[in-house]
Amino acid sequence: MTTPYTTAPDIALVLAAGLGTRMHSATVKVLHEVAGKPLIAWAVDAAIDAGARRVVAVLGHQRERVDEFLASRYGGKATVEVAVQAEPRGTGDAVRAALPAMTGEPDEAVVAILYGDAPLVTEGLLASLCAACQRSPAGMAVTATEPPHPVAYGRLVRDSRGRLARIVEHVDATDDERAIAEVNAGIYAIRLGRLREDLRHLSADNAQGEIYLTDLAARAAARGGAEVVRAPWEEVMGINDRVDLAAVARCARRRINEAWMIAGVTMEAPEATYIDADCGPLGADVWLGPGVCLRGQTRIGDGARIDAGCVLTDVVVEAGATIKPSSVLSEATIGTAAQVGPFSHCRPGTVIDERARIGNFVETKKSHIMAGAKANHLAYLGDASVGAGANIGAGTITCNYDGVKKHRTVIESGAFIGSDSQLIAPVTVGRDAYVGSGTTVTRDVPRSSLALSRAKQVNIDGWADRFRDAQNRRQSRQSDPDGK
Ligand code: UD1
Ligand code: MG
Repeated sequence: MTTPYTTAPDIALVLAAGLGTRMHSATVKVLHEVAGKPLIAWAVDAAIDAGARRVVAVLGHQRERVDEFLASRYGGKATVEVAVQAEPRGTGDAVRAALPAMTGEPDEAVVAILYGDAPLVTEGLLASLCAACQRSPAGMAVTATEPPHPVAYGRLVRDSRGRLARIVEHVDATDDERAIAEVNAGIYAIRLGRLREDLRHLSADNAQGEIYLTDLAARAAARGGAEVVRAPWEEVMGINDRVDLAAVARCARRRINEAWMIAGVTMEAPEATYIDADCGPLGADVWLGPGVCLRGQTRIGDGARIDAGCVLTDVVVEAGATIKPSSVLSEATIGTAAQVGPFSHCRPGTVIDERARIGNFVETKKSHIMAGAKANHLAYLGDASVGAGANIGAGTITCNYDGVKKHRTVIESGAFIGSDSQLIAPVTVGRDAYVGSGTTVTRDVPRSSLALSRAKQVNIDGWADRFRDAQNRRQSRQSDPDGK
């Protein structure tokens, strides 16, 4: 049951059934991403963070795809449910579509209404709205904002005593009304009983022929007026097109970066550092160079250093590790005090243990590089296991693919692979063994032995001088064909 002073919404509705035509996209608007997180998840997460007991997403256009996304992200959490609005007949109609989901909920329940395309909403704003809703004699609170530039939003029309009289949509407004700076952000809190009653009276008698949720404001005015909660534009701006998407993304990234800096992360160029919403934790004294992109669910341990231009997607970097500039890592784990880069490529399934080193132009995939092992230059390690302390020389390649299947290479601890070697998998190089430079390893190398496959070297005395003389003689015959 709702207590009189709770600031958590009982139920949050996330409206996401609109067509989003101005995105000009094959993908439904609410699945476009800001900081790596689909728009609808921003609204759902804000509602959950605000303490909503239930979240009902109202879906329409491409509802199967959105539903699938919600199930994958929130599956198992009974909190997130779906209601369907078959045709987008307006925001009021969208809320009506959610009523059946709320059957059985008490009239005094506080319902927060959010948009799936306004991702910057905070739990703080939702808390203020819920508190205002409970103060309001009309059982309703509306969010007002003042955009820096005029936008086609609904205007808040106040009466002579300054109370909210009604909301007029831009297309229905007179010139005088359009001059009102205070606009409707589209985020509300309302008692369920009021909602049930007022939704029955909405009509589509307006310029767009839509059922406007905003008409609830005029009905609330007749009961003493809805409360108005003011919010900064940066918290409520919605996305209608890709210009808005970029503007919202900038705000989201600034907010994410500031939170990490406050938590102890140094960013040399915060305005050029891109951290996805689901990344973290990032430890104390993490240092991020300019142009670093941390994507997916990347985590970074205390004191790790990620230098300029690195792109890490779903990577775990342990404490004290260093990723040197321009390295690209995906689904990899980098151990304590390990070093990677510059210009390394660690592909999915790479596990680099403590103090190991992966140097420039080294590519790894599904490979485990154990403690203290080194591959410092120009190597490909795919489907490989490299034992502790092993050394992989420049130009070493694990030939893991025979054109049909992938095979594993095992290099045991302490082994030394000479430069420019090829290891034709499946193959094992035993513990402490040596592979001579330029060797093509086709058979297992026993422990502590030397493998050599290159041809024996031959030195021919005076050969180079004779070769040059012959060249010179040929050249002079060609320039003087008569031999004069
Ligand atoms: C709405 C408000 C306007 C406010 C603006 C703020 C109305 C009538 N107008 O206008 O006062 O200033 O938001 O952004 O409410 N949706 C549905 N089903 C529908 C229609 C919309 O689920 O039938 C969803 C959309 O997916 C979107 C949200 O509701 O998430 C807002 O819809 P949109 O069409 O963008 O409303 P606006 O015209 O911007
Ligand atoms: Mg809109």
